[in-house]
Amino acid sequence: MPQSLSPEQLRAIADEFGTPVYVYHAEKIKEQYEKLVSAFANTNTIFFYACKALTNVNILRYIKSIGANVDCSSINEVKLALYAGFPPERILYTSNGIGFDEIVEAKELGVIINIDSLSNLEKFGKKFGHSYPVGIRLRPNIMAGGNLKISTGHDKSKFGIPVDQIDKILAVVQQYNLFIKDLHIHTGSEIKDVDIFIRGIEVLFEIVPHFAELEFIDLGGGFKVPYETGDSETDMNLLAQKVKEDFDRHAQTRGKNLQIWFEPGKFLVSECGYFITKVNVMKETASANFVSVNSGFNHLIRPMFYDAYHRIENISNLKGDGKVYSVVGNICETDTFAWNRILNEVKEGDYLVFYNAGAYGFEMSSNFNSRYKPAEVLVINGKAHLIRRRDKFEDLLRNIVEVKIEK
Ligand code: LLP
Repeated sequence: MPQSLSPEQLRAIADEFGTPVYVYHAEKIKEQYEKLVSAFANTNTIFFYACKALTNVNILRYIKSIGANVDCSSINEVKLALYAGFPPERILYTSNGIGFDEIVEAKELGVIINIDSLSNLEKFGKKFGHSYPVGIRLRPNIMAGGNLKISTGHDKSKFGIPVDQIDKILAVVQQYNLFIKDLHIHTGSEIKDVDIFIRGIEVLFEIVPHFAELEFIDLGGGFKVPYETGDSETDMNLLAQKVKEDFDRHAQTRGKNLQIWFEPGKFLVSECGYFITKVNVMKETASANFVSVNSGFNHLIRPMFYDAYHRIENISNLKGDGKVYSVVGNICETDTFAWNRILNEVKEGDYLVFYNAGAYGFEMSSNFNSRYKPAEVLVINGKAHLIRRRDKFEDLLRNIVEVKIEK
């Protein structure tokens, strides 16, 4: 049974906790995780939740409780994961363009590290030699992903060491006798075509023979989730079957089984999330019938930044007639959530819910226009818990150092 919260439940949460509010449904995360585990059951695969999608420490603890590991993209995410109770060996740190001091800190914390530049690989070799295992993040030169901004593996991307620089990589590995335990790629986000992952595997297996101590291959995240009604997600069973065939074939020639790692973010938490806003103002104009909600790109930036589609529903009027509206925010910038969308007739004060708001929603929010960040609520076993209170005025001044300004 697919897990979702009903409009009635969401309305009750909005009444109780106020708006704007992010709501997460724990059992939906579990359902998604179980889909992955069961699809890959006949393979040697483990999953690391890419926590950049949503880092509330309660979510991290829930993810830990269902058995997933965690993938971090900054040293502070690593520290949050440790704080949430993950042991270092279940924490992966896939760095990108960071200073070497962060890598040293990650090593001291004992987590698994993927390095994405020749420069840091060399520094790592000089300092630690063979004493600490490390992975290499490669750029496979494959174009994939929902749009250019979330495509990370193509030949103009900053991410990873280009696989065509393999000679340079090998020179560093040899010079410092590095202990290379894994090869990593992450080609993009929202990849529906499973063959993209297979192409990535082929690129990696070309160079696998150079690394005698390899134990696993990390294929990153990027699974597609459905956004619109009738939309589909990455076919996990098909992906698992193809990945298995490919790994089995390569294992025969190499005589060694490499473990498979994935780092799903959106797949685990996109659909568990709901963002509830309230209608401030209705404004009819010649070009559009505007609905202004008590939010904007300061709270949910995906529609403006990636042209992302989020389904919107008027949960205050479930049976009304459909009318065409343009849903906008209240920020002093153009912050259009949706243009010409059909919604059940909207009145001021109605609650509009944005679906697929769990991944990169709250996480990319800001205090722009000196507005408060929203509250976050976690529904678990049917009970709603506040897991982050809404900002207060003092929060806007929290880190300000006031100096005496002379006349
Ligand atoms: N692993 C690495 C190394 C990544 O860079 C990412 C995402 C993931 C895993 C997880 O990817 P996912 O499964 O969530 O697609 N803010 C954008 C998405 C940016 C993804 C950045 N990296 C959005 O809202 O669409």
